[in-house]
Amino acid sequence: MNDAGSVFTLPSESVAEFDNIVERYPTKASALMPVLWLIQDSAGFISDDAVVWISEKLEVTQARIREVISFYFMYRDTPQAKYTLQVCHNISCHIMKSRSIMTHIGKQLGVKPGEQTGDGMFALEGVECLGACGMGPVMQVGSHLYEELTTEKVDEIIEGFRSDQPVTPDTDRKLEG
Ligand code: FES
Repeated sequence: MNDAGSVFTLPSESVAEFDNIVERYPTKASALMPVLWLIQDSAGFISDDAVVWISEKLEVTQARIREVISFYFMYRDTPQAKYTLQVCHNISCHIMKSRSIMTHIGKQLGVKPGEQTGDGMFALEGVECLGACGMGPVMQVGSHLYEELTTEKVDEIIEGFRSDQPVTPDTDRKLEG
């Protein structure tokens, strides 16, 4: 799926999913957020070329698309580590010991928050509330949300990504709504 006005190409395996997403919404423009997820999931980030492509396909201005990308911290407009582990450090998760989870992940990966591993596979971030306060501590990786984390569960999640067999998330936000 390539366009004359855009050099962005949607991977062939994502074309049917794109069509399904657009069909589910009353207007093309209202499919913007799941389409951003779809593109970020396949490319790792939302490039300038992807913004042009989305603008043409969904009939949304590029300014509006950039506004949405910059407002929601889960969207990325620059290349990222393959897996960015975003651990919530707001009050509810903090009470449930998210800090020790963050420390454990940092030790396992050999990084501090804000850094990524030398092989570019993992990055670690502390983030604001992920909207799952009753399930803390929680961590988001792409559209996947992992809840009620323990050090053992975190180790399994990391190993799952390393072996290319991701642990099934507690919630997949790509499938919500
Ligand atoms: S405080 Fe962690 S999800 Fe809300």
